[in-house]
Amino acid sequence: MHLWRKEIQFGRESKIKEKKILMVCLGNICRSPLAQGALEFLAKKHSLKIYVDSAGTEAWHSGKSPDKRAQRTALAKGWNIGSQRARRITPKDFTYFDLILAMDKDNLLDLQAIRPRNSNVFIKLLLEFSSDKEKEVPDPYYSGNFEYVSNLIEKACLSLVDIDE
Ligand code: 4NP
Repeated sequence: MHLWRKEIQFGRESKIKEKKILMVCLGNICRSPLAQGALEFLAKKHSLKIYVDSAGTEAWHSGKSPDKRAQRTALAKGWNIGSQRARRITPKDFTYFDLILAMDKDNLLDLQAIRPRNSNVFIKLLLEFSSDKEKEVPDPYYSGNFEYVSNLIEKACLSLVDIDE
């Protein structure tokens, strides 16, 4: 197991104090709100000490609720994302969070480019945690492929917290 993975183990046996995880996509209205909702759902269900938030690399939709299609898909999974509001990532996020998970490689490159020097945060692709052949969560904003995207996210979040369901 990689060191970074060991350091961010969250299993129920973990003695590690609460972990803070930030999910990041481009607009913060489709993928990262779903990822936040999925992980919050698992944390609640399995009593895991995880604080989750999400943000976008762009501010286009700041203050807006998640896309209606994302909300509908989330609801079907039992994830509550309706109260989330989009925001752009800030420099503080890089010191506050323990782990930042990017939905795709563009997000990852953007995050690495704006990471402040004093930040020790782990920045990874969410799907690094998944056994799926997909390495990126594709943008569903134009494709409308929300169900596929939510399944990819769900699988990775289960693996992130080491839970077999
Ligand atoms: P997200 O999806 O990054 O998963 O929130 C997108 C949302 C909005 C746009 C692109 C992607 N947009 O072009 O406005």
